[in-house]
Amino acid sequence: MGPLFCGRSIGVRRRKIHIKTFGCQMNEHDSSKVLEILGRYPYEETTDLHEADLVFVNTCTVRQKAEQKAYSTLGRLKRLKQEKEVIIGVGGCLAQQKGVDLLDRFAHLDFVVGTHNLHRLPDVIEDVQHTGNRWCETCFRDRAPSMEVMPRGRSRTQAYVTIMQGCDNFCSYCIVPMVRGPERSRPSLQILDEVRRLAEGGVKEIILLGQNVNSYGKGLEGEMTFPAFLRAVSRVEGIRRIRFTTSHPKDLSLDLITCFRDLPKLCEHLHLPFQSGSNRVLKAMNRGYTREVYMEKVDRLREACPTMAITADVLVGFPGEGEKDFEDTMDLIEGVRFDGLFSFRYSAREGTAAAGFPGQIPEALKAQRLKVLQERQRAITRSKNEEMVGRTERVLVEGKSHKNPRDMMGRTRTNRIVNFPGDGRFVGEEIWVRIVTGFANSLRGEAICSRPLV
Ligand code: SAH
Ligand code: SF4
Ligand code: F3S
Repeated sequence: MGPLFCGRSIGVRRRKIHIKTFGCQMNEHDSSKVLEILGRYPYEETTDLHEADLVFVNTCTVRQKAEQKAYSTLGRLKRLKQEKEVIIGVGGCLAQQKGVDLLDRFAHLDFVVGTHNLHRLPDVIEDVQHTGNRWCETCFRDRAPSMEVMPRGRSRTQAYVTIMQGCDNFCSYCIVPMVRGPERSRPSLQILDEVRRLAEGGVKEIILLGQNVNSYGKGLEGEMTFPAFLRAVSRVEGIRRIRFTTSHPKDLSLDLITCFRDLPKLCEHLHLPFQSGSNRVLKAMNRGYTREVYMEKVDRLREACPTMAITADVLVGFPGEGEKDFEDTMDLIEGVRFDGLFSFRYSAREGTAAAGFPGQIPEALKAQRLKVLQERQRAITRSKNEEMVGRTERVLVEGKSHKNPRDMMGRTRTNRIVNFPGDGRFVGEEIWVRIVTGFANSLRGEAICSRPLV
């Protein structure tokens, strides 16, 4: 095989990369960065595993199930390696956590790169290619150069922008600080420059990404606070919508809440994980707020912006969670009436404080509590979606619906998916859509204008 990275001349076949991504938006975003990093060389993406020259598995380890999924995916690739010449690499949070153990466990793996080392991919792959060496690159860097990579957009309408990496919070159940490293913010001027370039390229919606964006700027001398940064982003011409994720209730300031009232581009949706409704459990989780503080902040948000949609993450079965604690969680859900909820069974993660806590809850009980919670939330989400019927919403059109080729798909400012009959026009534009039906996970509507909004 010829050298991999000198193929800019005519006639050299572009090599194909197949990426499997697990986990959260950070990982999705990192996979797009991989495409950008390797796209400078003759590499292009393929959805067909069997035509790939390089397979990259971007892993997650937030729960046991995610870890298991990564192992079974990696295990299945053994066959592919036997059948054809292919380089197989693993990245993401499990790669960061397990490092060289993955190379020991899976003899068909060529390399492991951690969360701070994506920029090393070209060198690593070239060396694997030429020498057959196996690589493991997992050292933490103060500011991962890959944070600065502007990824290849998969959609021209929306774009993620990393504003910080890592987390310093050490919630007692969570592995993320161990695998994503300490919290580091990117300089605002650099981020604003990226936002401007995206806007010039036609992007309309920006989603600012970080584990705890509310504490943006911490540790960067003279840097703006997050609310000040939002005001700066909202001055970028061409950007119509701004979202951000994830927020931590303890760092949600009044100044930030006011942004939802004052910044027209800031969409009226906030993802604000509460994790538990029990003060006893919240303390053991090291979350730094009480249920009263959480609910008070929700009230302030709704005061500032009455149409605000609020979604959250919640865990059931944290060590020591009793019936009363679970009832407190259900009571908070009833009180807030979330627009949507991501709910998980607590999963013990090696290296976290809570893995050693007494009172681990049997899986059957966790499953039972999760079922109760999810059934109740499904009814609330559906009823909130039904309440939307008859309203006319600004919808940013993202493209054709995946379910029905005669339908288009877009999102309301409150982040609800809307499908509506359409002929492919207005992608990347905002239009008015009247909501006609509310389902459990989406809305159905009718476009009521023939011209995009300006
Ligand atoms: N930085 C974000 C997201 C962290 S991970 C935040 O602070 O909200 C995403 C979600 O996974 C968390 O909000 C939590 O609900 C869930 N999670 C984290 N660790 C978990 C564990 N050990 N078991 C089950 N769910 C977990
Ligand atoms: Fe994990 Fe807590 Fe950090 Fe979120 S804030 S990433 S839940 S440690
Ligand atoms: Fe995300 Fe999973 Fe890592 S949730 S930060 S990919 S552990």
